[in-house]
Amino acid sequence: MKHTTLSRFLIEQQRTAGVLPAELRLLVEIVARACKAISHSVNRGVLGGVLGSLESENVQGEVQKRLDVIANEKLLEANEWGGHLAAMASEEMETIHLIPNRFPKGEYLLLFDPIDGSSNIDVGLSVGTIFSVLQAPASSATREVVEADFLQPGRTQVASGYAIYGPQSLLVLTVGTGVFEFTLDREVGSWVLSDSNITMPSGTREFAINMSNQRHWSPGTTRYIDQCLAGSTGPIGHDYNMRWTGSMVADVHRILKRGGVFLYPADSRTGQGKLRLMYEANPMAFLIEQAGGAATDGVTPLMDVAPSKLHQRIGVVLGDKAEIERIRGLATSEG
Ligand code: AHG
Ligand code: MN
Ligand code: MN
Repeated sequence: MKHTTLSRFLIEQQRTAGVLPAELRLLVEIVARACKAISHSVNRGVLGGVLGSLESENVQGEVQKRLDVIANEKLLEANEWGGHLAAMASEEMETIHLIPNRFPKGEYLLLFDPIDGSSNIDVGLSVGTIFSVLQAPASSATREVVEADFLQPGRTQVASGYAIYGPQSLLVLTVGTGVFEFTLDREVGSWVLSDSNITMPSGTREFAINMSNQRHWSPGTTRYIDQCLAGSTGPIGHDYNMRWTGSMVADVHRILKRGGVFLYPADSRTGQGKLRLMYEANPMAFLIEQAGGAATDGVTPLMDVAPSKLHQRIGVVLGDKAEIERIRGLATSEG
């Protein structure tokens, strides 16, 4: 196998494809480097003293795991000094993090979920890091960046991706030219291209949803899952399989590679979903659309939603285009 490192891939994207500005290339490289460090911590587990919870809660009222905080710190530290960012935002921080004055200020905004799937950390299952890159509004060059600068629809993302810390550590990335997967070569210390131009297989009869929320679902969600459960004797006429890992990165990765659908729908408890628009839903939507799938809040494409706040939650329904269209139809029909 000819080894293409992430650095080489990015330089080629910059040179040949001409789609990647040098500053953005640097930014992606630094995020990838931070993910390498996070991967190392996750892998050390109990030996590194990184497991377990802290006393603290994040802005969403969730108890922070030790690794949530460690990963957040690693991402902040790695990205502060490079000169390519104007500000950062994270699931683990109430408001935005400005680049300290001692470092040059760049033109991009970085958002991240430092550890996705936190409930899986202490039981040795896959977790990951999700990130999204936006361009700061031109007007922010001469003033301090504010939270409102981040509130852009997902359609404006210039890059997004995730790292998954599982049996292998993988980095899955888009800069708008398709979806590429890199595997961490621990001995050499580099991310190596392991899958190019990933296209989601279509027609896979597999769904991912947390069934324990069933009583809170909307009629549309209930109708769709009922049809899946009815299998070959129902209106779809095919049997379905079900998977739920509790880590969005792991579920989305499976869907990218094997097909199917993932749902964390808005439900009657809050009228919103659980997942966060800016640093979970949008980056995954960008990847899924680039891989030929669809990503909606049940009806509207996620990347067309105009965000109203940094930590906004939203229903997420993504994966196989035909299934997402079926779900949209069921959500909007009366019957
Ligand atoms: P996080 O660990 O960043 O808070 O995200 C967890 C998310 C997502 O990864 C996963 O799909 C979902 O929460 C699982 O929720 P349930 O525990 O309700 O199944
Ligand atoms: Mn998450
Ligand atoms: Mn998280």
